[in-house]
This record gives sequence, structure tokens and C-alpha cells, in this order.
Amino acid sequence: MAVAIVTGASRGLGRVLALALAERGWEVVVDGRGAEALAEAMDGRPRIHAVPGDVTDPWHRTALVTTAFDLGGLDLLVNNAGVLGGRGLAQVAEQGLDELRLAFEVNVLAPLGLVQEALPLLRASGGAVLNITSDAAVEAYPEWGGYGATKAALEAWSGSLAAEEPGLPVWWVDPGEMNTAMYRAADPGAAAQSPLPEESAVPGLLALLDDRRPSGRYTAAGLAVEEEAAR
Ligand SMILES: NC(=O)c1ccc[n+]([C@@H]2O[C@H](COP(=O)([O-])OP(=O)(O)OC[C@H]3O[C@@H](n4cnc5c(N)ncnc54)[C@H](OP(=O)(O)O)[C@@H]3O)[C@@H](O)[C@H]2O)c1
Repeated sequence: MAVAIVTGASRGLGRVLALALAERGWEVVVDGRGAEALAEAMDGRPRIHAVPGDVTDPWHRTALVTTAFDLGGLDLLVNNAGVLGGRGLAQVAEQGLDELRLAFEVNVLAPLGLVQEALPLLRASGGAVLNITSDAAVEAYPEWGGYGATKAALEAWSGSLAAEEPGLPVWWVDPGEMNTAMYRAADPGAAAQSPLPEESAVPGLLALLDDRRPSGRYTAAGLAVEEEAAR
């Protein structure tokens, strides 16, 4: 029985990825800060284990890993929960430092803390780490500099972790633009033109798991195209 943790599953990409894994028979430990929203999003589906809380809280991170342990171990950690930072996007000249500090807490330090907490279980199972990043980590867009900096930092430690832990795949994946609450808050027009995460990102992420690709940076779109070509 395979066990996964998926953070930020009360909506958007985390929700549909968690449900897809449960559908495939995984036991899936999920979180999100709002207990009601999380319960509603998971809709009483089997094999879903909701542990509401904030990933920046170390006690909550311990609760996530303990729940996985009680289910038999941990085979996959998906660091998906993320925020744009405070009120949203800002030019570098006007970037609120407190807002950016909070975004670093959620997007960089919390996933790192969760990896540290989960590593003993992942090493024991030969499990994998999947960190959700963004093209803003590697491309320069006006007003995306603060958020992009958090994702660049996430990518930096993901690469080091991959080098330090040759026994476990560490993947950092750009899911592509998706019509989710996060993107709608940043750019409603562009979000409306973007696909839903279940259409665009989830197939590539599932292919990554199925193929157990080597550690590295991937795009969900590229993975889906390669999967299609291999059929
Ligand atoms: N949408 C895009 O176009 C896009 C593009 C590139 C990368 N991404 C990345 O993809 C991932 C998913 O984004 P999304 O678009 O699905 O965002 P979303 O719809 O805003 O969902 C974010 C999820 O994270 C949870 N979350 C936020 N802060 C949290 C915290 N401190 N503790 C626990 N859970 C927290 C939210 O629940 P609560 O608010 O209830 O806590 C929610 O379930 C993020 O890492 C994002 O940076 C998105």
C-alpha cells in the first residue's frame, strides 16, 4: 500500500492530484489551512486522510508525517501548497518585505522542514519528493520577482537534496499556467484562458510517478507530451 502526503489539497492542483492518487489506490494525507474547505474539497472520498493545518507550523508538519507513519510509511511527499505573497504580485520597487518573508516561509522553508521531517520514512521506503515550482523561478516577468525568488530558492535546495540523496528521486516540476484561485488572483484574464490543473498538469505528474524518472527539473507539459509520444 503506497502512502503520499500532498500539501495544499483544499483546491487547485493539490486537490485534483490528491484525488487522482487516491483513485489509483494510494493512501493520501492532505492538508490546507481551512478544515471545512479541505473536508468539502475531499468530498468523503476513500483513502483520503485530512490533517488540516498550516505548513509553516512545525507541529502540523509533524502531524502530517505521523499520520503517514501510522498508515504504514511514506512513499511520496508532494510539496504543493504555495502562495503568491500577501496581496499578490508587486514590482520589485514596491515589494512588501513582510509579505515576501511570509511567501518564503510557505514556499521555501515549510517544504524544506517537511522534507527534513519525512526523510527517515522516505529513505526507508525508497520514496520520492515532488516539489511544485513555477516558470517564474527561471524566467523574469514584471511583478513576479518576489514569488519567482521563492520558487528559485525552492529549486536550489531541491537540486542539492537530489545530489545528497541519490537513493530517492527528487523532482521539481513546473506545472504550467493553470486556471486556479492563485492564478485568478494574479491575472484573471490569463487564468480564464488557461487549462484546469486536471487537464494540463496532473497527467504529466502521474507519468512522472509511473516512470519513476531520475531526479531533476521537469515541466508537466513536457512530461505529458513525452508520455503521449511513448504510447
Ligand atoms: N496556478 C498556476 O498557474 C501555477 C503556475 C505555476 C506554479 N503554480 C504552483 O502550483 C502550486 C499549486 O497552486 P494552485 O494554483 O493550485 O494554488 P491555489 O488554488 O491557491 O491552492 C493553493 C493550496 O495551498 C493551500 N495553502 C496555501 N498556504 C498554505 C499553508 N500555509 N499551509 C497549508 N496549505 C496552504 C491552500 O489552502 P488554504 O488557503 O486553505 O490553506 C490551497 O489548498 C503552488 O505551489 C503554486 O505556486 C501554480
